[in-house]
Amino acid sequence: MAKRRIVKDVLKGERTQPAPIWMMRQAGRYLPEYKRTRAQAGSFLDLCYNPDLAVEVTLQPIRRFGFDASILFSDILVVPHALGRDLRFEEGRGPLLTPIDPDEIKHLSVEGFHEHLEPVYETVKRLRRELPDETTLIGFCGAPWTVATYMIAGHGTPDQAPARLFAYRSPEAMRELLETLADCSAEYLKRQIAEGADVVQIFDSWAGVLDEASFEAFCIEPVKRIVAKVRTVYPDVPIIGFPRGAGTRYRDYRGKTGVTALGLDWGVPLSFAKALQQEGAVQGNLDPMRLVAGGEALDRGVDAILEQLGSGPLVFNLGHGITPETPIENVERMVKRVRDWQGGN
Ligand code: CP3
Repeated sequence: MAKRRIVKDVLKGERTQPAPIWMMRQAGRYLPEYKRTRAQAGSFLDLCYNPDLAVEVTLQPIRRFGFDASILFSDILVVPHALGRDLRFEEGRGPLLTPIDPDEIKHLSVEGFHEHLEPVYETVKRLRRELPDETTLIGFCGAPWTVATYMIAGHGTPDQAPARLFAYRSPEAMRELLETLADCSAEYLKRQIAEGADVVQIFDSWAGVLDEASFEAFCIEPVKRIVAKVRTVYPDVPIIGFPRGAGTRYRDYRGKTGVTALGLDWGVPLSFAKALQQEGAVQGNLDPMRLVAGGEALDRGVDAILEQLGSGPLVFNLGHGITPETPIENVERMVKRVRDWQGGN
């Protein structure tokens, strides 16, 4: 008999004891085996587009920690790359793209989009075959706003000022860019689901820099468009929305976009998280620096989340990605603490 994939069940609103656990960026530079495979691949993008090696790094944290979910190894920026924008990753500098001009947006080409992403689909397909039956496989994309911020600035920035300025100066171009990205991202997610993803997550890492009206137009609207398109084909596949830094706007995000579950950053107060959990599953939200620190700081952070949220539908996770300096023994300690937790019955 097929085993239960508890992350998927919890995202749909069930509660399990213990809560399932995985970590954003769980395949990464804090693992020596990742660094070895990464060196073997050559560049970071070569790793993303090599199914043998991408499968290997996706499985590494599952073998080591037995997480309840596995997230496809890739990057949100393969979508603009597949639309013909140039992309490279430089050691210590992160992603570099040629900044897009407003008049280039109508020329973005969807021709060859799926061909370009074929290695990613192949990775998903192999992963579903190779993962333990009970491990939920999560596919993902970046939310249009977050992807657009990198396309516009050409690199990471602390507050996405270039993209905000672009939007105010060229609102029509911005609208067109977000629509194009939403449509492509929906197609991208549908293909990942077709190849075996059980769940998908939409990463809106830069949602928090927007004012009220811009949040509606640039975060809510495009994500709502993606969710609607995915749902017409896959009405039952859970979708996690992660609008990092959304603050009080987390309150209507689920209702307005239609996502199944909310990924919470560590700034979300647990009392507010508990209110959000009344309407469906939540995922999060340990400060990744507690995981770096370990010891009491880690234990207190884990316990606080479980005490507040452990009696409802909770997928335990970090509030953002794990950082490279994180000691592996702290990850082991966190997993054990979440699995041993006895409260909330
Ligand atoms: O979570 C996972 O394990 C799956 C893989 C994954 C990566 N990036 C691998 C990666 C996922 C889900 C992402 C998403 C992603 N990529 C986001 C959204 C989530 C977030 O963290 O905010 C964003 C904004 C990006 C763009 C990106 N990719 C940046 C800004 C950087 C540089 C920062 C850094 O950590 O180096 C990357 C590179 C990247 N993506 C790495 C990994 C493992 C590190 C590069 C390397 O190994 O050389």
